[in-house]
Amino acid sequence: MIEAQNITFRYPGAETAALSEVSVEFPRDAISAIVGESGSGKTTLMMCLGRFIRPAQGQALYDRTDVFDIPEHAFRQRLGMVFQKLYLFPHLTVLENMTLAMRHAFGRDRRETDQEAEAMLERLGIAEILDRYPSQISGGQAQRAAIARGLLLRPDYMLLDEPTSALDARTTDAFAEWLRSLKDQTNFIVVTHDILFARRAADRGVCLMNGQIASEGPIEEALSRLHLNEK
Ligand SMILES: Nc1ncnc2c1ncn2[C@@H]1O[C@H](COP(=O)(O)OP(=O)(O)OP(=O)(O)O)[C@@H](O)[C@H]1O
Ligand SMILES: [Mg+2]
Repeated sequence: MIEAQNITFRYPGAETAALSEVSVEFPRDAISAIVGESGSGKTTLMMCLGRFIRPAQGQALYDRTDVFDIPEHAFRQRLGMVFQKLYLFPHLTVLENMTLAMRHAFGRDRRETDQEAEAMLERLGIAEILDRYPSQISGGQAQRAAIARGLLLRPDYMLLDEPTSALDARTTDAFAEWLRSLKDQTNFIVVTHDILFARRAADRGVCLMNGQIASEGPIEEALSRLHLNEK
């Protein structure tokens, strides 16, 4: 399980801490949403969980081990991340984008990785974009391709930062359903400011407010307490 234990993080030069004594667990077999207003610390928490930044106090734990004590390569394989900016290489097709990491970082054979990538796109219902370049697919398709690429590495957890920011309401609903259909593939943690999306996609919720946990628990419960706090 991945968890934050008493994490405090302050950006250099910032007057207030972006996260203050944040403790929260992200159990397996649930899609978790991290929600909260802009600036509440959602992305910062995700960066701590993904060991991109080291908290001044407290720690992010993966199966009870400080994420910084796990060898980088092993950790990256267990925990996938899709940032808001998708980082698909523009000069490579979707298929090539998907298999690049497997071939280079893991030394896998091209034919084998191509087959796996094709099967994954098929499974995710976007097989038709296989040979297209990132400029030839929609924002929603690019989002799915980036997630498909991450899933190929069979991560234990996958963190998504604002995956619906480029999607309209209808596509967002379909995307929520799509994520839920992938629950057998990995454990998603989704950062979002979209409450409707969180409600549709997630089983559990963590609400941040000014860098602190305002509420957490089953999604409806977590959100209802957030609304109470807003009044
Ligand atoms: N690189 C940085 N340097 C200084 N302060 C930062 C930096 N990144 C974020 N912050 C500040 O830390 C706080 C938390 O930011 P964070 O990006 O985690 O919020 P967020 O909840 O993800 O917001 P959004 O919904 O807008 O993405 C904010 O007050 C923000 O201004
Ligand atoms: Mg953010």
